[in-house]
Amino acid sequence: MTSLAKGETRAAGGPLVRLTGVNKWFGDLHVLQDIDLSVERGEVVVVIGPSGSGKSTLCRAINRLESIQQGEISIDGERLPEEGKALARLRSDVGMVFQSFNLFAHKTILENVTLGPTRVRRKSKADAERRARELLERVGVAAQADKYPAQLSGGQQQRVAIARALAMEPKVMLFDEPTSALDPEMINEVLDVMTSLAREGMTMIVVTHEMGFARRAANRVVFMDGGRVVESSDPESFFTNPQSDRAKDFLSKILNH
Ligand SMILES: Nc1ncnc2c1ncn2[C@@H]1O[C@H](COP(=O)(O)OP(=O)(O)O)[C@@H](O)[C@H]1O
Ligand SMILES: [Mg+2]
Repeated sequence: MTSLAKGETRAAGGPLVRLTGVNKWFGDLHVLQDIDLSVERGEVVVVIGPSGSGKSTLCRAINRLESIQQGEISIDGERLPEEGKALARLRSDVGMVFQSFNLFAHKTILENVTLGPTRVRRKSKADAERRARELLERVGVAAQADKYPAQLSGGQQQRVAIARALAMEPKVMLFDEPTSALDPEMINEVLDVMTSLAREGMTMIVVTHEMGFARRAANRVVFMDGGRVVESSDPESFFTNPQSDRAKDFLSKILNH
């Protein structure tokens, strides 16, 4: 796979993730409003926006952790089903990394990474372990393989969470504020892993307020506010010349804090 240049998108084979006319309500709250969003293969889309704008709900809808009331979401041309085996399969095409690392506390680092591949992907233990060690090496925590999550720093745990998601061989990776719970000195070690994933051509949707990452790694920035996609443009245009007052206001707050 080759990664895309900034601002470049690729059409071959159709978008990997496509949301069309997506609407979702939590009771009276219209949390996702008429969302149309396509993510091409190899594209890195950074989603930013104020707290409560629907970013996490959007991520959770993409792998059906939340249902939607209207519209359609497809992964690699296949519409996400409501439930059942087909849902489990499509869901495993989507790797997810959350703000809280969500590792299994009573399993070792190695077991955390091999669990999905052996149980869901039906890989042999030996194959799963070989692959897990490669991935732990790649995210820089191979030496921690036999430890338990609590023995690792937050930055190390988050890198394990990335390795665990990659072990399922997802087609797309979703990151929901993966560095927001980390101490400042650990943020870069996680962003570095994400940047190299992006360079290697992984399709990624990343909710983050790390503007350096957005400028460095994103092909596109999507700005959400009040449940809507308000702007979608290449990082340079977005940061230097945001179109909407809401984006201007948001940027002035985060860039001047
Ligand atoms: N399970 C839920 N039930 C009711 N309201 C929710 C639920 N999850 C999120 N919300 C509300 O939906 C809105 C969007 O939330 P969220 O997607 O978490 O926004 P963001 O990630 O952009 O901060 C917020 O007003 C939030 O309070
Ligand atoms: Mg959120």
